[in-house]
Amino acid sequence: MDRLGEVLVVRGWIRTCRVQSTVTFIEINDGSCLSNMQCVMSSDAEGYDLVESGFITTGTSVLIEGTVVSSQGSKQKVELKVATLILIGKSDPSAYPIQKKRATREFLRTIAHLRPRTNTFGAVTRVRNALAYATHKFFQENGFVWISSPIITASDCEGAGEQFCVTTLISNAGESDCPLNSIPTTMEGNVDWSQDFFGKPAFLTVSGQLNAETYASALSDVYTFGPTFRAENSNTARHLAEFWMIEPELAFADLNDDMACATAYLQYVVKYILENCKEDMDFFNTWIEKGIINRLKDVVEKDFIQLTYSDAVKLLLKSKRKFEFPVKWGLDLQSEHERYITEIAFGGRPVIIRDYPKEIKAFYMRQNDDGKTVAAMDLLVPRVGELIGGSQREERLDYLESRLDELKLSKDSYWWYLDLRRFGSVPHAGFGLGFERLVQFATGIENIRDAIPFPRSPGSADF
Ligand code: 4AD
Ligand code: MG
Repeated sequence: MDRLGEVLVVRGWIRTCRVQSTVTFIEINDGSCLSNMQCVMSSDAEGYDLVESGFITTGTSVLIEGTVVSSQGSKQKVELKVATLILIGKSDPSAYPIQKKRATREFLRTIAHLRPRTNTFGAVTRVRNALAYATHKFFQENGFVWISSPIITASDCEGAGEQFCVTTLISNAGESDCPLNSIPTTMEGNVDWSQDFFGKPAFLTVSGQLNAETYASALSDVYTFGPTFRAENSNTARHLAEFWMIEPELAFADLNDDMACATAYLQYVVKYILENCKEDMDFFNTWIEKGIINRLKDVVEKDFIQLTYSDAVKLLLKSKRKFEFPVKWGLDLQSEHERYITEIAFGGRPVIIRDYPKEIKAFYMRQNDDGKTVAAMDLLVPRVGELIGGSQREERLDYLESRLDELKLSKDSYWWYLDLRRFGSVPHAGFGLGFERLVQFATGIENIRDAIPFPRSPGSADF
């Protein structure tokens, strides 16, 4: 053991402190990994009076200096023989809400400021970080340029009207302490839109795709990675009002290139965490979802299944399953259908469904030659359902204009988007991946609210 005899300084938070007749065992964690460092303290060490006075309790922050020695315990190979213990911040044990016995995730959501101190949230946060790092690494290594798309926008990329409005608050200092009291309203009591974003309506973005397309039409392959917002009132384990999205946009590319990129990306980031987050992944495998490591290895090693929407509908109809929602060509697939396809029909393999009816997809998707379907694709994974939504974009000006007309969307609002088709248009394609759904898939954590540090969903915007 190479570090034996080394003198170390550890700063962190006490997990447990067990005082025994001859020695005291202190478990400390600084969040750098899952394992605690066991520190063994005898009564002659400096700072032992703090132990005697009962100050070294769970949650306390301390600095410990000691020597690495081999451990007699079975749980760890080495431990720290304490020379000095310094108390940095006290923690009242009768008030500290994190106790040794496991708390429910629902309870931990009410203390989102302290839950990162638990094993589960420490591990999820480190794996989330590794997935973000691997995301940039993948795209940078493949020549993509990272673009920051705006958070405030006037356009509704998905055309679904699920946007949050931006309102300018004019704080009348002296008249009111709370700027919310001064939301400008009309005589009728409605919000005065003319006051919105300096006189124009504006929203929080639902997707950075349209902006990414403008840069792909100049720099070739680009990607965004930033927060997006949806005002859908979905209280499910897969929906957030604020989530992060990764949106690559490939120039001179079609739907097949798009699907190949999505597959390579997913395999790359999953392989990265299997190789670089071993301790945390073992923890998920034991405590969160048994078998997750083997399932993720399959993702890396096996091809993804591909089928058309029409074939997916046939497969669902043939299954003779009693689904809650109807299955019929032209209707969107619901989460129960998606889960059946990936979990039951294809035994847990990721599945890409392509060529959806144009009526159930967004205006910008490229129309296929059959006139009924568009070059869209959704990537489905077990437990989570839709992880990725993407498409080849309509690069033909006349097709795009008539689609906007059909959907009664204003061509004037999309003048800049149409310009891309007027000046040097190229075939291009891209997709969006919900980052928290990826974290769910990669850790086995059941609820998306536990895959992001501070979840925003209906009724929760504290902290
Ligand atoms: O399928 P969506 O709506 O596609 C788009 O926004 C495209 N503009 C993307 C693109 O082509 N650049 O969303 C993409 C992904 C979904 O597959 C899902 O993983 C995630 O974003 N997503 C959500 N994640 C959490 N909470 C929500 N409310 C989500 N809505 C979508
Ligand atoms: Mg979608």
